[in-house]
Amino acid sequence: MDPIIEVDNVTTVLGGHVIHRGLNLTVHRGEVIALIGGSGSGKTTLLRLMLGLDVPREGTVKIFGHPLGRCAARDLECVRYRWGALFQHGALFSALSVFDNIALPLRELKSVPPALLKPLVMLKLAQVGLKPEDAAKQPSELSGGMVKRVSLARALILDPQLLFLDEPTAGLDPDSAKQFVKLLRKLRQELGLTVVMVTHDVDTLFAVVDRVAVLADQHIIASAPLSEVARLPHPFVRNFFLGHVERCAEEDVKRFRLSLDDTSDEGGVPAVLRDEANV
Ligand SMILES: Nc1ncnc2c1ncn2[C@@H]1O[C@H](COP(=O)(O)OP(=O)(O)OP(=O)(O)O)[C@@H](O)[C@H]1O
Ligand SMILES: [Mg+2]
Repeated sequence: MDPIIEVDNVTTVLGGHVIHRGLNLTVHRGEVIALIGGSGSGKTTLLRLMLGLDVPREGTVKIFGHPLGRCAARDLECVRYRWGALFQHGALFSALSVFDNIALPLRELKSVPPALLKPLVMLKLAQVGLKPEDAAKQPSELSGGMVKRVSLARALILDPQLLFLDEPTAGLDPDSAKQFVKLLRKLRQELGLTVVMVTHDVDTLFAVVDRVAVLADQHIIASAPLSEVARLPHPFVRNFFLGHVERCAEEDVKRFRLSLDDTSDEGGVPAVLRDEANV
């Protein structure tokens, strides 16, 4: 297995409080891993460490083999464009249209010819299941589900190999959440992404996640398939999966996922675009 993220014996201190102590986590190429844990347990902080936005007091975080915080600026530049992120409270820029929000990372690169901007943005818009006419809309004209899709398109615009999602379905109604999860499954299948996702939504775990890492008591207390994690005797885990343990059995998860693959393609990657996906 090919490790893409290696968090090794990390201790994080914020505002004088120890958030993580001796935390270890490895994420492998092509897997979708979910991070669960109580509010304030340090999930967003762990994503920020993986993105190099926070620095651990002790320990190391390596992405694509590069130790963050210690690698040369040039190396960091190279890896920075290999990931995309959808932040927990990351809103779209309200003064920019959908098109300009998605185009932003491309424009920041400064090396993309202007003539290429439009086809690249419209491709991503289609990949996340939005219509061409949505490009001209302002963020205030979008539904919650559409905002998430636009944010996802922006996170995908540089064709990352690695995607960080912090509570991607929070605040969505059950139907929009279901569509979003279906979309993630499609993108994962079509683009072969590695995904690290914070979520408190059992349905999301059920539909798309290969492995669940549980953050509690300042470290990762378990990281295993859903069927194993759901049965852990830890109080947080018991509470989290209350009423869901039976449906998390391996066979039931498999059957459910097969049934998802059988249903309509709504929100998926249009077949015509699949070969163009450059990942
Ligand atoms: N910049 C900061 N300065 C001081 N303390 C911080 C800072 N950012 C986060 N914290 C604290 O670190 C702890 C972990 O925060 P974090 O946002 O990682 O939690 P979380 O697990 O993502 O929670 P939630 O599920 O509510 O999003 C919290 O106690 C929070 O108050
Ligand atoms: Mg958080």
